Amino acid sequence: MITVLAQDVHKWFGKTHALRGVSLEVRPGEVLALLGPNGAGKTTLVKILATLLTKDSGHVEIMGHDLDVHVGTIRQMFGYVGQDTDRSAYARLTVAENLEFFGALRGLPRAVSRERIEGLARSFDFHENLHKPFMHLSGGQKQTVVAMRALLHDPPLIYLDEPTRGLDPIAAARLRAYLKSFVYEKGKSLLLTSHILSEVEDLATRVALIHQGRTVAAGDPHELKSALGAAGYVEVRKDRLPASVRERILQLDQVTSGVDRDPLWIAFAVDDGLAGSQAILHVLKASGVTAPFRYRDVSLEDVFAHFIPSAV
Ligand SMILES: Nc1ncnc2c1ncn2[C@@H]1O[C@H](COP(=O)(O)OP(=O)(O)OP(=O)(O)O)[C@@H](O)[C@H]1O
Ligand SMILES: [Mg+2]
Repeated sequence: MITVLAQDVHKWFGKTHALRGVSLEVRPGEVLALLGPNGAGKTTLVKILATLLTKDSGHVEIMGHDLDVHVGTIRQMFGYVGQDTDRSAYARLTVAENLEFFGALRGLPRAVSRERIEGLARSFDFHENLHKPFMHLSGGQKQTVVAMRALLHDPPLIYLDEPTRGLDPIAAARLRAYLKSFVYEKGKSLLLTSHILSEVEDLATRVALIHQGRTVAAGDPHELKSALGAAGYVEVRKDRLPASVRERILQLDQVTSGVDRDPLWIAFAVDDGLAGSQAILHVLKASGVTAPFRYRDVSLEDVFAHFIPSAV
């Protein structure tokens, strides 16, 4: 069964048409990452799926339940981490008290709640903060509590809106590791938004690119990269590359295009990493150019720039 099915969802805020027919699917054992520029509509979509906002039109089903009909049932099925961390727990209660309270709201028996909190504290190395008031925590620690809260009732589906924002690299890696085992070992579903492309690369089985309230591309990261038609890029320092040599490189059979969006480096897309690099190096050498160069694989940033050109 499909965990999340959204079809042709529209949302207006006054005169702003924030969602213009977004569709997506998330299946069990899958992490779908929503990528898109600021204001694309990612948070709006996640909030609609999490029943925090209402859509104006379109169809949404969560595990076969129609969002317009079964809101109460659907609310038991997911955990949610939003962008507004500060207001998502009681400031004066301790972390443990907050989590026990949210566990009780979810109908968890106290003993089960305590055991889960203990397990989460272990996974997130959070024991020493459990008995501090929420308001005494740092921004990243609060973010961790919100993630723990979303995972507490072990839901089949979790929505994370920029979950690692403000987390230090170790805490972020710990959360990612937990999420990976949550999804892949237990067959759960995760829908996340993130601007950290390395994180998306690490976590996501599928990516949907959202631009101006629409899905402009979706697929597994490998598929999306293949759509660009390049095996990788040979980058050469621009300030050391005469225009005539640049033209000769662009005319090589092995070079499919030139990507010029960095002030320092020009990237030549090649259809074969080794043959392309050799051909380019040959031209550089024959022209007596000693510009620094480097090879890199196609990245999600290239995918982003390809499908959302105005944003880069
Ligand atoms: N409560 C609101 N009232 C009016 N307009 C809103 C509201 N919430 C969002 N918008 C508008 O809807 C559009 C989509 O916003 P949204 O927060 O969904 O973007 P986003 O993709 O999550 O961006 P970011 O990457 O910055 O988090 C924007 O144009 C935004 O200004
Ligand atoms: Mg957002």
